[in-house]
Amino acid sequence: MTPAKILVVDDEAEMERLIRQRLRKQIRAKEFELVFARDGHEALEKLQTEDAIDMVLTDINMPGMDGLTLLDKLSEIDRHLKAVVVSAYGDMQNIRTAMNRGAFDFLTKPIDFDDLLITINKTLTSVRHIKENLQQLHQAQLQLVQHEKMATLGQLVAGVAHEINNPVGFIFGNLSHAEGYVRDLIDLLELYRSKFPDPGEEIEEEIEETDLEFLLEDLPKLLDSMKEGTKRIAQISQSMRTFSRGDTDRRVEFDLHEGLDSTLLILKHRLKANDRRPPIEVEKHYGDLPPIEGYPGQLNQVFMNLLANAIDAVEERHLHEANFIPTLTLKTSVSEVGKWITIEIADNGIGMSDEIKAKIFDRLFTTKPVGKGTGLGLSISQQIVTEKHGGRLDFTSKFGEGTTFIIVLPARSSEC
Ligand SMILES: Nc1ncnc2c1ncn2[C@@H]1O[C@H](COP(=O)(O)OP(=O)(O)OP(=O)(O)O)[C@@H](O)[C@H]1O
Ligand SMILES: [Mg+2]
Repeated sequence: MTPAKILVVDDEAEMERLIRQRLRKQIRAKEFELVFARDGHEALEKLQTEDAIDMVLTDINMPGMDGLTLLDKLSEIDRHLKAVVVSAYGDMQNIRTAMNRGAFDFLTKPIDFDDLLITINKTLTSVRHIKENLQQLHQAQLQLVQHEKMATLGQLVAGVAHEINNPVGFIFGNLSHAEGYVRDLIDLLELYRSKFPDPGEEIEEEIEETDLEFLLEDLPKLLDSMKEGTKRIAQISQSMRTFSRGDTDRRVEFDLHEGLDSTLLILKHRLKANDRRPPIEVEKHYGDLPPIEGYPGQLNQVFMNLLANAIDAVEERHLHEANFIPTLTLKTSVSEVGKWITIEIADNGIGMSDEIKAKIFDRLFTTKPVGKGTGLGLSISQQIVTEKHGGRLDFTSKFGEGTTFIIVLPARSSEC
């Protein structure tokens, strides 16, 4: 644990010696770290140069800037900074003023050092609570943003899929009619040609001009490829709907491969080549999996987080090293007794140092620039896999070579 940092402001040099001596046990145990200032001005300087001071212990009567003026300035710098004032015994007037200006507590001179320790500990506990609450609030806000982002993405994707579906339906429906009509027309033409093998010069020339033989041969192929194209659009739209399944409060049976594929589809634009790098290859080794029971929308969020991290990692490696083929490898398998399903998402990206490895599941830990990473992806993924699905999320990584994340899920998880 890092020591709590206390700024002591007093014009008497003797006070520094005394406090250091009385608190030496706590200083040696690295519970406290003391910083000293001789008056309010110096205290404000120290607050600028030292990082993260937890509390201020200040005398009231000092030359230069006194303790009461300092109190006013403190609330301007950081309204969560707690100050304890020290005043002469019986100096009620100043003590009242100090409390009104936001002091957390007071001590009287001569200082009772047992009381000093109690007061410091009480103040630091309060500081710690405020910090914890603020951090929790911050995390909750970020988590909300992340959930909101996923929900908005889901709605957007579902909306687009829905919009695409209708026009694709018309095209597909009409194409089969068009195919029938074209076949009839061709048959009719063939009949004409057999009944009137000698249609005259003008028609012969027109047949030559339009390259009728080629046209008759190509038209059915063309219609086939249009059908194939619309089929693919329909599959994409189906995948988009799979990705955005709204199932937050109900466990359902679903196909993990559909989840992985639909997530890859959503990330397709990030896999394509761009002016900085070649395309990112995706290798799939899918096993024969039984359907799994769980929350598909949430597992898709896990796949999204892991795949997005893998893409970031290969892109980062590419910045330093142009000569490798950025590749993501997705592997799924089921244990022999069919109880556990394993999904591996591997990349040959930048990898991680031991120092980074130790922290990746910590909330808010990120090595990415501000605005790019919030450091929530993995902690949320871990929560979804372990708490929501009774599974495990592990990884192995080698710096400069790549990383593999391994999700292990119970095939038919008991209610968790
Ligand atoms: N596949 C990977 N290869 C290398 N480093 C990784 C990989 N996955 C995660 N990391 C490291 O773990 C950190 C935390 O990842 P996490 O997904 O939790 O947050 P993030 O990606 O930084 O931000 P976001 O909240 O947007 O996901 C990353 O910043 C990165 O340093
Ligand atoms: Mg991430």
